[in-house]
Amino acid sequence: MRHTLIKTGIPGPKSRALTLRRKVCVASPMESLAPFYIKSGRGAVLEDVDGNKFLDFTGGWGCLVTGYCPEKVVNAVKAQTESFIHSDFTVVPYEPWIKLSEMLAKKAAGKSEKAVAFFNSGAEAVENAVKIARGATRRRSIVVFEGAFHGRTLLTMTMTHRPMPYKYVFGAAPDVYRLPYPNPRKNRYTPADFERLLLETVCPEDVAAVIIEPIQGEGGFNVPPEGFLQEIRRVTAKYGILMVADEVQSGYGRTGKFFAIENWGVEPDLITLGKSIAGGLPLSAVVGDKKLFDSLPKSSIGSTFGGNPLACAAAIEIIKMIDTEKLLARALHLGKIIRRNFDGLKAKYNSVKDVRGVGAMLAIEFIKDEETWTPDTDTCQKVIQAARDNGVLLAGAGLHKNVIRLLLPLVITDEQLDEGLEIIDKAIASVTKSGR
Ligand SMILES: Cc1ncc(COP(=O)(O)O)c(C=O)c1O
Repeated sequence: MRHTLIKTGIPGPKSRALTLRRKVCVASPMESLAPFYIKSGRGAVLEDVDGNKFLDFTGGWGCLVTGYCPEKVVNAVKAQTESFIHSDFTVVPYEPWIKLSEMLAKKAAGKSEKAVAFFNSGAEAVENAVKIARGATRRRSIVVFEGAFHGRTLLTMTMTHRPMPYKYVFGAAPDVYRLPYPNPRKNRYTPADFERLLLETVCPEDVAAVIIEPIQGEGGFNVPPEGFLQEIRRVTAKYGILMVADEVQSGYGRTGKFFAIENWGVEPDLITLGKSIAGGLPLSAVVGDKKLFDSLPKSSIGSTFGGNPLACAAAIEIIKMIDTEKLLARALHLGKIIRRNFDGLKAKYNSVKDVRGVGAMLAIEFIKDEETWTPDTDTCQKVIQAARDNGVLLAGAGLHKNVIRLLLPLVITDEQLDEGLEIIDKAIASVTKSGR
């Protein structure tokens, strides 16, 4: 049985009608990847308003590790809605916040005792991690990396690497320093250069935190070279700098570990979480060393909707689901299938030059010229479009938008995955028209 179904041109007539309405009143910088509009979704499949069915390999930019509408999550949210929708934890506190904090603190177990604070979006979690780091160290500077993505608020947009459309249009916040990310294909740096680069760039006595995505998400699923995260941990500890792991995209099981950084056995001081934490309801968190939170003045962090009870109710069920449905093992299983398939694409198509990632967090990179590692943005974008027109929604990535990354729900069936991978293969064939 096929899980995709394309019965109109893409977009279909109802989607086109919505686009006409959208053009009148929706703020035009708000772009959408898909030219169609969703009606419903289950697991890894979404149906649009015209009855077309797509396999969603973007999972709403990585928010749907547990898929569309998992029954237990839906029921928990319904039950919470009937008790109370909102009170604001800083006005009248509630048990689901405490329970979720206990669960996350346990997941982040390490040498230090852990505490948890909730917010709304990934960017807000990152902003608060910076506040906590600055407050706890009484230092100002923040160190980030080439290829990083940390959000689109003024501070996090400054921390994000991509200059266009961000810093070029909106300006930048102060005290943010960017270091090279070691990548044998693109530069000569190795993990051993980190300390020297840090000292050449900023006075370490003024650095509050080094913030790194354990695997870069928007940057193109760049996996740190062996020893890099360990070296950052060593150097930050040496200079009294905090290490923050931004797990907004890499966390929640995608790599086969609950936090991606566990793959390298490193314990950061703070972890930021978002995206899949509440299965698509707006929720984010900072999890970390309790002493750091305890060093801050009362009421110095918080937000009106952060840790909303509906989102907490969903998030509790998401963690239970990851455990009971063994989604970490599932990520490794899916990852094996995808890697085998992607290695096949690399062998078959000239333009596919790299396969990388960990667990099910895998990507392929399109390159024109291997010698100069020139990005093939055009082919990559055409493949995304061809796959979409044939029933698979794909997310691009990379500073040059020449990477396809999989952020698929881990509840996808093997059959659905095979169907999606076959459509990607045909999409590349149709765009490049030739194999090797
Ligand atoms: C690693 C990382 N950090 C932060 C963010 C920002 O999250 P949000 O869009 O929820 O603000 C993202 C979003 O893609 C991300 O991938």
